[in-house]
Amino acid sequence: MTYILGIESSCDDTSAAVIKNSRVLSNIIANQSVHSSYGGVVPELASRAHQQNIIPVVDVALKEAKISKNQLDAIAFTRGPGLLGSLLVGTSFTKSFALALDIPIIEVDHLKAHILAHFLNDDDGSKSPSFPFLCLTVSGGHTQIVKVSSPSDMHIIGSTIDDAAGEAFDKAAKIMGLPYPGGPEIDKLAKIGDAQAYKFPKPRIGELDYSFSGLKTSFLYFLRDNLKKDDNFIEKNKADLAASIQRTIIEILLDKLKKAVAQTGITEVAIAGGVSANSGLRNKITETAEEEGWKVFIPGFKFTTDNAAMIAIAGYFKYLDKDFASQNVTPYARSSF
Ligand code: KG4
Ligand code: ZN
Repeated sequence: MTYILGIESSCDDTSAAVIKNSRVLSNIIANQSVHSSYGGVVPELASRAHQQNIIPVVDVALKEAKISKNQLDAIAFTRGPGLLGSLLVGTSFTKSFALALDIPIIEVDHLKAHILAHFLNDDDGSKSPSFPFLCLTVSGGHTQIVKVSSPSDMHIIGSTIDDAAGEAFDKAAKIMGLPYPGGPEIDKLAKIGDAQAYKFPKPRIGELDYSFSGLKTSFLYFLRDNLKKDDNFIEKNKADLAASIQRTIIEILLDKLKKAVAQTGITEVAIAGGVSANSGLRNKITETAEEEGWKVFIPGFKFTTDNAAMIAIAGYFKYLDKDFASQNVTPYARSSF
């Protein structure tokens, strides 16, 4: 039996999790409410909050897992990508805790971890994909189609050239005056709106890449023009606006995913990252899978947004390969894969 402690601190969630092989024993997440009044994550405030949260979060994760720190076999941590100040807190904590316990440390790429969350065993009856599979990773900072051949062999075959899908949700929400992060707010409103009420142009961009910045601009201009005619345009139509922008983002995501399946011939398809919590995307990909004959994998809600259980499982795969990091390791802001 292998016990891994996972540490995640790449953005505004401080999280610690304990897994026993692939089984989740605890997964504790401290969200940082401090950012909501700024309409986005403030890096300096994020790293300070990580410093305050990290020890209590690890303490609770160990208690909930009902193990002592001396039973840990290794600590896996997010090395990047993310906010450097935030990553530094998790990295430094990991190094010193592991040094004190005399156990190895394992560096994990946050984006690979989102994908490997599909291999967590949480008694929810969900099955894991088999290799190779395609994963649409949709988070606040990234949008990628990844060909996953093994836990260590992943290739990005398409990605956004500007905004990420999560940013598209968050920016559309901000334009509508909704609180940050806007993705979940749009999701809620979209459930009671008419998704066909408004049409927005889709980007024309080659191959398997994405672009969302044009959509944001046309949404902004559309609202500006209508607000000139009616001050209450957003308030009166917010559910229809949310449903229409959500439908457009989902269509853009799935158009390229279909193209990726056609190009690679791989029909096992997974989604990962914060935006994979979106109910519209979850429904639409399930529907598309039925139409197209794909086998689709959708993560449990708690493993969609940032969490340390996904870092721990990514670390577990590396632990099996004895792929450990040195005490000299430093975080990276941008993904290296
Ligand atoms: O993966 P994640 O937690 O953090 C990053 O690694 O970026 O993703 C956060 C993103 C945010 O943009 C947030 O608005 C979006 O995921 N998100 C959603 C939903 N839940 C979170 N977007 C749409 N619908 C949701 N239900
Ligand atoms: Zn993430």
